Amino acid sequence: ASSTHGKSHRPKPLVFVVMDGIGYRENQLGNAVAQAYTPNLDWLLQNCPYTLLKAHGTAVGLPSDSDMGNSEVGHNAIGAGRLFPQGAKLVNEAIASGRIFQGKGWRRLVDFAQAHRGTFHFIGLFSDGNVHSHLDHLRAMLLHLAFEEKMPRVRVHILLDGRDVGETSALEYVLPFEKFLRDINTRANADYRIAGGGGRMKITMDRYEADWDMVLLGWKTHVAGEGRAFASAEEAILTYRRENPGVIDQDLPPFVIADESGPVGRIQDGDSVVYFNFRGDRAIEITRAFEEKDFKVFERDPNPHVFYAGMMEYDTELHIPRNYLVEPPRIEHTMNEYLCARGLRLMAISETQKFGHVTYFWNGNRSGKIDERLEQYVEIRSDKVPFQERPWMKAAEITDRVLRGIRSHRYDMIRLNFPNGDMVGHTGVFQSARIAVEAVDLSLGRIMAAAREAGGILVVTADHGNAEEMYETDKAGNVKRGPNGEPRAKTAHTLNPVWFIVYDTSGTRTVRFNPAIEKPGLTNIAATCFQLLNLAPPEMYDPPLLEN
Ligand code: 3PG
Ligand code: CO
Repeated sequence: ASSTHGKSHRPKPLVFVVMDGIGYRENQLGNAVAQAYTPNLDWLLQNCPYTLLKAHGTAVGLPSDSDMGNSEVGHNAIGAGRLFPQGAKLVNEAIASGRIFQGKGWRRLVDFAQAHRGTFHFIGLFSDGNVHSHLDHLRAMLLHLAFEEKMPRVRVHILLDGRDVGETSALEYVLPFEKFLRDINTRANADYRIAGGGGRMKITMDRYEADWDMVLLGWKTHVAGEGRAFASAEEAILTYRRENPGVIDQDLPPFVIADESGPVGRIQDGDSVVYFNFRGDRAIEITRAFEEKDFKVFERDPNPHVFYAGMMEYDTELHIPRNYLVEPPRIEHTMNEYLCARGLRLMAISETQKFGHVTYFWNGNRSGKIDERLEQYVEIRSDKVPFQERPWMKAAEITDRVLRGIRSHRYDMIRLNFPNGDMVGHTGVFQSARIAVEAVDLSLGRIMAAAREAGGILVVTADHGNAEEMYETDKAGNVKRGPNGEPRAKTAHTLNPVWFIVYDTSGTRTVRFNPAIEKPGLTNIAATCFQLLNLAPPEMYDPPLLEN
């Protein structure tokens, strides 16, 4: 192909937009994407070649096709161009084979607590969402501790979900779990209890240093046992719901379970602690608080001497945590490694909430840059606000910076993530989700114009769905309704496909999708980017989507 842009045959530049959590769904009901005013997206769909990509389940390395997509596996797949068995699957396998219990991490946890007559603690996301964690993993470890290791005392610190599962489903997990613990206690003559917890968006599970106060509050709850006391988790949840009408699980305040002699599950010298989430973004900060000798972010009061392990290694380059139970996927040879090796200049940008998605997840769960000289990573600080109240988030600010990047002619590829569809989709507020999608569309229009002006190529896609399905449905597909007939909000991701649109303004080629590619998915994207950059895709990658 001849090029009008100097000696390089590369687009000027390739702009790659991830519309986080914006999937495609035909049904308009509860579909905040279809119901939003999106003239720019509509124009792209009418005038540009596009296809739909699978973004969930086995197509992204999850155990089954009933697993919804998520940003970790989605960005891993986009960035690495092929399939890796992901955390959820690897932990399942390690437990099924019993390998997890022979590993160094597990042995040292058990030995430490036994040698110090300490308590064994679990902290983690308490649901079967399979995005950050799965309750089956927790249950398997508890059974093993009780019956194989004869561990007398265990405490479980529960982070209530309502974001990867039904928005007010906490008791559906808590009540059977209390029974499960009672059974263990009777059969093994043990003392296993819930220690306390709180909503996952209130304590402990912050990511990308958006709000360390959440982690501090988690520390107070889990370690110090400070906070409002209740006799049971059920009582805490029911009380908070009564006091905060309409509150959803992810936002429930922290609570501590206490009896006559005080909190039942403080973390103390000689205890062992497992953070049982396998996904890293919302695990790294609390891990650092437990592990770093000269941790400076907040004062750890108290700071007991414990043995800490994570479910997985969360950062495979910085080696966080030091001890872990299951080997993570080793995601090597990512698209950025190749592009840097060939001297391409790259920019990555998002706001804090998704900054690590286009850097850390995109680069195979490594938070560092691949090449300082060639890469620029830009983080726009996210506001600390309920995003349903500010659904536009930082889309305009991200876009300002992207336009500067395009106009500078300094980059071969600019990748960006608009968090709106996802972050607002997770709140379950339909009106806000619609506005979120419109904010993305408004920005898309500005990027389209800038790409056109520069003669670049624009790719618009997503990592998984969310905003296109805002109501819960039953197995038959009917909307579930609340007591007053109102639709029940769906806060979680979806099983829907995502668009992959190519807007080529360079006028140097014809973009045509290759009909021979069977079941196109997110893993086909990386090789396609190579095509668009006029580079031969690496052999090991899944095939590109376009005809040559
Ligand atoms: C979260 O961590 O916010 C949700 O569990 C998953 O959302 P994400 O995969 O889009 O980040
Ligand atoms: Co999400």
